[in-house]
Amino acid sequence: MLEELERLEAGARDELARAGSTAELEAWRVKYLGKKSTLTGALRSLASLSPEERRTVGARANALKDALQSSYAEKQETLSLSSIDKSLLSASVDVTLPGRPTPCGRLHPITQVFQEICAVFARMGFQVIEGPEVERDYYNFEALNIPQDHPARDMFATLWLDTEQDRDARLLRTHTSPMQVRLMEKHKPPLRFIVPGRTYRYEATDATHDWMFHQVEGLAVDTDITLRDLKETLFEFCRGIFGRDTGARFRCDYFPFVEPGGEVAIECFQCKGAGCRLCKGSGWLEILGCGMVHPNVLSRCGIDPTVYSGFAFGMGVERITILRHGVDDIRHFYSGDFRFLRQF
Ligand code: DAH
Repeated sequence: MLEELERLEAGARDELARAGSTAELEAWRVKYLGKKSTLTGALRSLASLSPEERRTVGARANALKDALQSSYAEKQETLSLSSIDKSLLSASVDVTLPGRPTPCGRLHPITQVFQEICAVFARMGFQVIEGPEVERDYYNFEALNIPQDHPARDMFATLWLDTEQDRDARLLRTHTSPMQVRLMEKHKPPLRFIVPGRTYRYEATDATHDWMFHQVEGLAVDTDITLRDLKETLFEFCRGIFGRDTGARFRCDYFPFVEPGGEVAIECFQCKGAGCRLCKGSGWLEILGCGMVHPNVLSRCGIDPTVYSGFAFGMGVERITILRHGVDDIRHFYSGDFRFLRQF
């Protein structure tokens, strides 16, 4: 029996040394250490031996099993290491491949236009300031000469935050004009401010309307501000944003917080004034509302309208961006679609 084990060991070691792959190693394991192997058989038949034989043969067989198991483990490790080495050898590095580009972020088109608008007005001495998006009825309407039940409230479909609609009711500002009041309450003339910011309307969305959009408000108050200052400031703004060759037009319009009120339109850049689909045949594109600050608004803010006068204006930033870049749907701006945003 002992001799048989000697032979078994010699054969096993010989074959193990020759095993060159994991498949061969596995076959070796089944043959020498598996359930049906000679060694396992020998260990199982120990019971039928005499006590002395069982002791010597048992010790030898168990020692052989341990030895073969650890040799097997060693071989397993050598084989797996050499397979890594081989894969490294066969892989090659193509040093001519171009590098991976690092994606570079950019400013949102609305932010870009905001910055351009602010820069044009900053050149004319306006300060830039922001205000709260959650407003009170008082600032959004009442102080702007739009009392409760005034029909002009219909111009501004409102998202209310309070159910009780009194002068303290909170709402999402429908325009940036409430900042006119906040500025005049806090600062004494002379003042020149522009207010970029977000505004909200309770409106169904379509290609030209969104429930959230951006405006830039402007306000100038001093002792002798006239309509002429308003017009020239806004024409200079049009030249700065749309170019010197684009014509601009001033016409009367109505807003409760200004008197007189006006609108500024620029020459349609698609048809150069001839009339097309973009300008609905008129040749002009309206871009902002404006006017001389209403005496009621001035006096409500503690500014004497017999001493001071001022002008104000407000424009939609999406609208200006849409016109400038020929964007066909306002909803693209907040869709988060890179194919759209990458173009700016
Ligand atoms: N707040 C107005 C709107 O959202 C725009 C506007 C018109 C602002 C006339 C003004 C102004 O400051 O004087 O439609």
